[in-house]
Amino acid sequence: MRMKDKVCCVTGAASGIGEAVVDRLLAEGARVAMIDRDGPRLARVGATFAEKHPDRVAQFAIDVRHEADVADAIRTTTARWGRLDAAVNCAGILGPVGKLHETDSAAYRELMDNNLDGIFYSMKHELAALAANGRGSIVNIASAAGVVGFPSAAAYTAAKHGVVGLTRTCAIDYAQDGIRVNAIAPGGVDTPLIRATTCSTPEGQQMIESMHPMRRLAQPAEIANAALFLASDEASFVTGSVYCVDGGWTTL
Ligand SMILES: NC(=O)c1ccc[n+]([C@@H]2O[C@H](COP(=O)([O-])OP(=O)(O)OC[C@H]3O[C@@H](n4cnc5c(N)ncnc54)[C@H](O)[C@@H]3O)[C@@H](O)[C@H]2O)c1
Repeated sequence: MRMKDKVCCVTGAASGIGEAVVDRLLAEGARVAMIDRDGPRLARVGATFAEKHPDRVAQFAIDVRHEADVADAIRTTTARWGRLDAAVNCAGILGPVGKLHETDSAAYRELMDNNLDGIFYSMKHELAALAANGRGSIVNIASAAGVVGFPSAAAYTAAKHGVVGLTRTCAIDYAQDGIRVNAIAPGGVDTPLIRATTCSTPEGQQMIESMHPMRRLAQPAEIANAALFLASDEASFVTGSVYCVDGGWTTL
């Protein structure tokens, strides 16, 4: 029970990596505020968790691009459970594919709004709550594309490098406040996001698998295990790190 009685929030909590993180945190005793803009899916997934862990699950069907809604969700969580101890920011989308000069500017804007601005707003209100608590941990889900270049994904790569930048700078700025800030850089993960896009054809799946020395995708639980470690007190001297959980991708 590494997170016993800890109050956590998870964005992008209704699917994929976020859903696996919620599962792991609840299993370790946490109370979890689930944030996701997909209301019906959040209600379905949240109800399953709430049945198994009564009184330890809250749901907020909001979009992290809307700062006032993020602020309200964090405020409501701290009012209900007294404080915030940890946050795992998973909400994100895949962006436009192609070379930069062919990239639609509206699609670029949408990607940055979701994958970078959304993390900025989430961190802003999480950090305020953690500072009030006097300690805590933030884990941002970046990507291997936040560490190295990724072909034909300039917007996505820019946003994920931005997430790594926010992580490193806030690790420095909040170290004296007892707050640790880390990122995870996953390689390909078998989630609805990648199944609907890159892996929607056998060739696409083979292409992405072949980019990993381990020649496979991760399961969401393999990312959640790293998030649990970084969120917990076991990682008490870890801050500003970008933890690659990528089957060796970024070592190539
Ligand atoms: N799947 C992969 O291969 C992979 C690899 C590296 C990084 N990532 C990153 O991991 C994160 C989670 O991806 P996933 O594969 O679990 O995807 P997913 O689509 O299965 O889950 C993402 C969840 O985030 C929610 N969401 C998206 N934008 C939101 C917003 N603006 N406000 C609120 N909720 C929002 C979606 O509704 C969805 O439930 C993303 O940031 C993604 O970039 C994924």
